[in-house]
Amino acid sequence: MKTLSTKSIQSQLILYFTIAILVPSIITGMVGVKIIQHQIYTRAETKTISDLNSAREIYRNKISQIENIARLTTARSLIVKAVIENNSTFLQKDLQRTLQREKLDILTIVDKNGKVISRGHNAFAFGDNLKEDKLISRAIATKRLAGGTDIVTREYLMRESPELAAQALMDVIPTPKAKPHKDKQESSGLMLKTAVPILDDQGNFLGILLGGILINRNFEIVDKIKEIVHEGEVYKGREIGTATIFQGDLRISTNVKNEDGTRAISTLVSEEVYDSVLSGGRRYVGEAFVVNALYISAYEPIRDIDNNIIGILYVGVLEQPFEDILKNTLAIFLGIALLGIVLIITVAVNQAKKISTPLKKIENAADNIAEGNYSQTITVHAPREIEHLAASLNQMAKELEREKLEIEEWGNTLEKKVLERTEEIRKIHSQLFRSEKLASLGKLAAGVAHEINNPLTGILTNSSLLLDDLEKADPRREDVEVIVKETIRCREIVKRLLDFARQTKPQKQLIDINSIIENIILLVRNQTSFRNIVIQKELSENIPEVMADRDQIQQVFVNIIINASEAMAKGGSLTIESKLAELGDSILIRFTDTGTGISDDIKEKIFDPFFTTKEQGTGLGLSISYGIIEQHGGDINIESKPGEGTKFTIRLPIYSQESE
Ligand SMILES: Nc1ncnc2c1ncn2[C@@H]1O[C@H](COP(=O)(O)OP(=O)(O)O)[C@@H](O)[C@H]1O
Ligand SMILES: [Mg+2]
Repeated sequence: MKTLSTKSIQSQLILYFTIAILVPSIITGMVGVKIIQHQIYTRAETKTISDLNSAREIYRNKISQIENIARLTTARSLIVKAVIENNSTFLQKDLQRTLQREKLDILTIVDKNGKVISRGHNAFAFGDNLKEDKLISRAIATKRLAGGTDIVTREYLMRESPELAAQALMDVIPTPKAKPHKDKQESSGLMLKTAVPILDDQGNFLGILLGGILINRNFEIVDKIKEIVHEGEVYKGREIGTATIFQGDLRISTNVKNEDGTRAISTLVSEEVYDSVLSGGRRYVGEAFVVNALYISAYEPIRDIDNNIIGILYVGVLEQPFEDILKNTLAIFLGIALLGIVLIITVAVNQAKKISTPLKKIENAADNIAEGNYSQTITVHAPREIEHLAASLNQMAKELEREKLEIEEWGNTLEKKVLERTEEIRKIHSQLFRSEKLASLGKLAAGVAHEINNPLTGILTNSSLLLDDLEKADPRREDVEVIVKETIRCREIVKRLLDFARQTKPQKQLIDINSIIENIILLVRNQTSFRNIVIQKELSENIPEVMADRDQIQQVFVNIIINASEAMAKGGSLTIESKLAELGDSILIRFTDTGTGISDDIKEKIFDPFFTTKEQGTGLGLSISYGIIEQHGGDINIESKPGEGTKFTIRLPIYSQESE
């Protein structure tokens, strides 16, 4: 019964508190991280898209730049003149200077049919036709400027210069997650070109000036993008912003670095981007694995003037910083949650202790009470309800203890009461027994006495007459005198018997006990039997009068005093006291003699009628006295020690019910 549940309040509270904090924190954490992740990536992607726009601008700008150089060149009259004159040597020198100054890769002049007049790069390569060049053919057809991106063959580059051809040549590096390239080697190149018409003063179309830059291994654009868009920001040793130009799927110009720090050219675009951008012609924005790291990337197709997809422009931001922001946020989140849990657990433990410690106390106390140990007070410092519980328990224990004591006490008094009652009943019983015995004996004695009385009167009359008739000297006279004397004694006994038997109702009146005692003393003092006895009286003054039969009470006192004198045949002292009883409801009259005393076995019988230890005794004195005192509602008490003396105490109620 002691432990109904194996779990304590404390552990339960901690468990529930922890669950209560843990579940929402985990959910909040997860949702929070998702939201933040989404926000970060959306922002990153938006940023990347705008980066891509910037990159496109820079890319286009480069084309415009070439265009401007070309325009300025064609505007010069010396150039126009030389074209008209077909002065290759002059043109070549001039073009070469511009080429070097403006860092162009191609600066070539063709006539209106596309035949090369002069190449800035190569003084000896002219006369061939360049109409195959899309921009040139477009410009010739439209007689207007044409600019854009174009793929050029190795032969095309070779005609310009072997260095350019070599610059474009790349051994394709197999790249994970990429589609295999069509060849192991890529020899063609990607160029930004502008074809500007050359017009004479009259506006006649003379030919085309073609300017161009080979993008392969040329990092100017991508680095510029990086500079402008990302300001060259570096994160953990890595450049955050990257830009790449693909020729088809081949990385020909980039600032994405390999592990060894070299630019990751000659590698391939991932298959996913390939499908989306090269095959699908769509922009691709998202997380992408570039060379060796994850980037938030944006790719868009590069188209030639015929709108064919020939390459890809790419910008990417290293994902690591965002990832780290996310990680940090998550860490902070977890940290706060953890702190919260620790805090909650601490609070829970504390709270649980605050509840469970006093409850444990109360539990122990309740166990003790159950075992019957009530004398204990619990003092707890706890929430109001628990303190109330403890107080109630204390109250209960106190109440139980009080009741226990009461029951014990009651048990004790009950025992005492039973004993008292038993004693009372025994007394009443013996009184009743005695009264009954007295009553029946009285009836018998009355009958006998009545029958004896008449013959006795006869005997006395006749013996008296006989005594009168006898001479004074007659020797028989003594015998007759004995007859007369003994007959008188018999008559006296009979009279007493009749008195006893008559059970006369006492004639009660207010009497002064002390005066009765005084009278008796006067009477007995001169009797011979009291010659050697000292009578002492200790009578309390001002004791109230009692309702009693004067003659009967006097008879009782005389009986007792005579008995005392008989017990002190050789002398002694008789003390007679009277006083108010302690309770004030009765008067005590005590007769103390220094006589023979009464042994215990005799003491039981002295009130029986006809019980006597004396030769001449009648055994009626005390039994009559007992009857009288009983009829007055009082009692007689004896204390005696054989050889020392006897003490008779009579108690008479001052105002008994019977006296009413
Ligand atoms: N004061 C006393 N001292 C000793 N014995 C007494 C005293 N009073 C009474 N008794 C005893 O009680 C008995 C009964 O007394 P009682 O009834 O007066 O009859 P009786 O005096 O005729 O013997 C006496 O015989 C005596 O043995
Ligand atoms: Mg007597």
